[in-house]
Amino acid sequence: MNKIAIIGCGNMGLIYANSFLRYKIVNQDNLLLVEKSIDKQNSLSAMNIGKVVTTDDKIISECNIVILAVKPQDFKELAQSLKQVINPTCVVLSIMAGTEISFIQSALNHQFIVRAMPNLPVEISMGMTAFTASDNLSQDNIMLVENLLSTTGRTLYLKEEKQLNAVTALSGSGPAYFFYFMKHLVDAGVNMGLDEHVSSILAKQTMLGSFHLINNGQKTLEDYIKSVASKGGTTEAALKTFNENHMGEVIIKGLKNAEKRAEELSIK
Ligand SMILES: NC(=O)c1ccc[n+]([C@@H]2O[C@H](COP(=O)([O-])OP(=O)(O)OC[C@H]3O[C@@H](n4cnc5c(N)ncnc54)[C@H](OP(=O)(O)O)[C@@H]3O)[C@@H](O)[C@H]2O)c1
Repeated sequence: MNKIAIIGCGNMGLIYANSFLRYKIVNQDNLLLVEKSIDKQNSLSAMNIGKVVTTDDKIISECNIVILAVKPQDFKELAQSLKQVINPTCVVLSIMAGTEISFIQSALNHQFIVRAMPNLPVEISMGMTAFTASDNLSQDNIMLVENLLSTTGRTLYLKEEKQLNAVTALSGSGPAYFFYFMKHLVDAGVNMGLDEHVSSILAKQTMLGSFHLINNGQKTLEDYIKSVASKGGTTEAALKTFNENHMGEVIIKGLKNAEKRAEELSIK
């Protein structure tokens, strides 16, 4: 049976705790919830989903998995106490944005690290998490981590850590781009005289249906665009405006800026 410590039980930490319990990857007796402030420890205890401990508790040394779910800026201080208590053979899984494996290894004086980049839909087990691992991690341990992460949605293993900046720009930030596009679809409907709730239903169901179509169908994205956009028709009129305003290039430029920012914010 796994014994798991989750360090930092804010938004993400609690999502992982609840997902692991839901899929019976761990039971409550073997789940340690680690928080710094007494107030948070008390509210975690009231939830009754695991054993609440502090970062220097020796019981953490019994865990085969330690999850780092604190903000990147809190890690350095945390590492001072954590490195005294983690088991040298455990796997440390970090979801801290931008914090490189080599930095975690040296701060914790620990070898076995997995770095993952989840996104917001993990909240409803529909997340996309890309992850990479330090060279020395065994296949068994990579699969163990994959089983944990997949309780929150789909997972993808990447060999090269440096690709995580592009992942951050695409799937990490991606939900916000989707919400942005949806918002403008709804606004456009309202602008054309539709009630907001009508516009919102039309936009949401259109996105949902279109997603399932591309996910289940055989055609390429270009072919699907052609299936909707007949010559001289309404869709073509809209696409012509998008192209004249270089929308495709703007999207690529936006994501490249996000990737660049991820690199600038990296903690090495
Ligand atoms: N939210 C997302 O969509 C998302 C997506 C991808 C990656 N991430 C990454 O996930 C991590 C957590 O994000 P979050 O949104 O869950 O943050 P959060 O809600 O602020 O949770 C972090 C928790 O860690 C606690 N903490 C800080 N220092 C600690 C210490 N020394 N020991 C134990 N607990 C400590 C914080 O307590 P205090 O508030 O008292 O400091 C807080 O409860 C971040 O590194 C972020 O980059 C988040």
